[in-house]
Amino acid sequence: RPPAHAALVVRSLPTASAEERQRILEDVEYNVFAFPAGLLTCDFLSDSGTSAMTDVQWAALMRGDESYGRNWGYYCLLDAFRDIFERGNDRHHIIERVLAGKTDVEFYQTKLLMSSQGGFVNGGRYQLERPNFFILPQGRCAETLLFSTMSSMIGEGYGSHSEHGKPTMIISNGFFDTTGANAAVAGFQLQTFMQPGLTDPFPQQLIGKTNNFKGNLDLAATEAYLNENPGKISMILVTITNNWAAAQPVSMANIRGAAALAKRNSIPLFLDACRFAENAYFIQRYENGYGDKSIVDIVQEMFSYAEGFTISLKKDGLANMGGVLCFRDQGLFAQRYKGIGMLLKERQILCYGNDSYGGMSGRDLMAASAGLYQVTDKAYLCNRITQVQTFAQKLQANGIAVISPPGGHAVYLDMEHFFFGCNRKLEEFASVGFTLELIKKYGIRAAEAGPFGWAYDLKSPEERARIPNLVRFAVSRHVYSGEHIDYTVAAITDLYDRRHTVPNAIITRGKHMKLRHFSAGLKL
Ligand code: F0G
Repeated sequence: RPPAHAALVVRSLPTASAEERQRILEDVEYNVFAFPAGLLTCDFLSDSGTSAMTDVQWAALMRGDESYGRNWGYYCLLDAFRDIFERGNDRHHIIERVLAGKTDVEFYQTKLLMSSQGGFVNGGRYQLERPNFFILPQGRCAETLLFSTMSSMIGEGYGSHSEHGKPTMIISNGFFDTTGANAAVAGFQLQTFMQPGLTDPFPQQLIGKTNNFKGNLDLAATEAYLNENPGKISMILVTITNNWAAAQPVSMANIRGAAALAKRNSIPLFLDACRFAENAYFIQRYENGYGDKSIVDIVQEMFSYAEGFTISLKKDGLANMGGVLCFRDQGLFAQRYKGIGMLLKERQILCYGNDSYGGMSGRDLMAASAGLYQVTDKAYLCNRITQVQTFAQKLQANGIAVISPPGGHAVYLDMEHFFFGCNRKLEEFASVGFTLELIKKYGIRAAEAGPFGWAYDLKSPEERARIPNLVRFAVSRHVYSGEHIDYTVAAITDLYDRRHTVPNAIITRGKHMKLRHFSAGLKL
């Protein structure tokens, strides 16, 4: 397979020693998130906002317009969302006209200004009369806006469709940590119905051979729960790809099934769509009947089942900042929460800024608009997913267990297997010790996604049983080469070979804080 990209700009990496990094680790109370990125060789903490942008995105950025009202980026982003996510639209590619400097009157008179008739993006005066598209600084702001507004409306009696009480529960295949926290803070109870089998033991599950959609919603469990709790569920939220379940994709059949269940119960289906393009690639590659469909066709079918979605443009927007909340014009959600568009808009303006930019700069709007087109390019997606799969295969070849097949944006080490025979208790946070050792010795940062991050020590026995013991290596888009991957595989293998010497970690401060991994202090 020929390579899909070449580097345009390069940055030199630091040459700090293990002793120097150790001193800094002490200074930052052994908090992985607080370690300075500038002293790292490879940073796998997150794939969010860490993409290297393409030359087309940089060109688009230069055409950014920082006007307070209705800058070019606003039009380009709305148009890109229609082009990518809505079925049955002629694709307009308004961005190409902005890039070519052709923003004449006709530009403003295109179909962009019309009602989208049941779509996610009303245009022109329809966005004023029936707002359904909200620009925000990032994904979690979209979540806060959505859940807090729904919650206040439910308090006033909106959202119900039966005599059974208020719909205060949300069902999901997996809530990302900020998503779950935002919904819980807004007063929702969360139910996660993830398909079983995520951590089935290595090496029974080989890449490409078996269940390729381990991110699916457990439809049977969801249906049973819906039957037991009529009128109590406010939405089904399907996360694509499922970041809670080790970045695993969700099949089209599963999205369709979730939509059918939602429809039968008059509940809106929303998508947490951060990594929609990666999910579409998995469908194209592994789901029967989709091999000949284009990525955009697949994306449009996925979204045709949804009533609305939140998205962080920091992932599959290929942008460094940005987020959106949108819902179907005059759809089920809009009907159940009559007037929610206006309320959302008021809150958007109060908290984030005018609807033309919602906390994003005009430049970032342009970069994200270009990114949405580029991320659906098959060669890009193939390159990206193959890099993650190769990373996983190289680890497996060295005897290291990873969640397999690997998901879209990250490789997850199975730390149960890693420390097998080492007699470590989950509350001793040996996996955090591993990430600290990796920073110190090799200048490589990864994130524990297990007992420490999910607060195992504070949970009930039932909840504890559902906490996986993983370490995530999230791969930034367009940033690392095979050389970085090989260096990281060698480093992990070294620590695996001497796993008995990896220290445990002890929390010294912040044990009870929400999302404590961001701010707790630790010692070894
Ligand atoms: N939903 C999912 C599935 C996510 O993965 C994230 C962020 C968000 C929502 C929130 O978006 O960061 O723009 O506010 N995930 C990042 C990660 C932080 O590292 O996985 P945001």
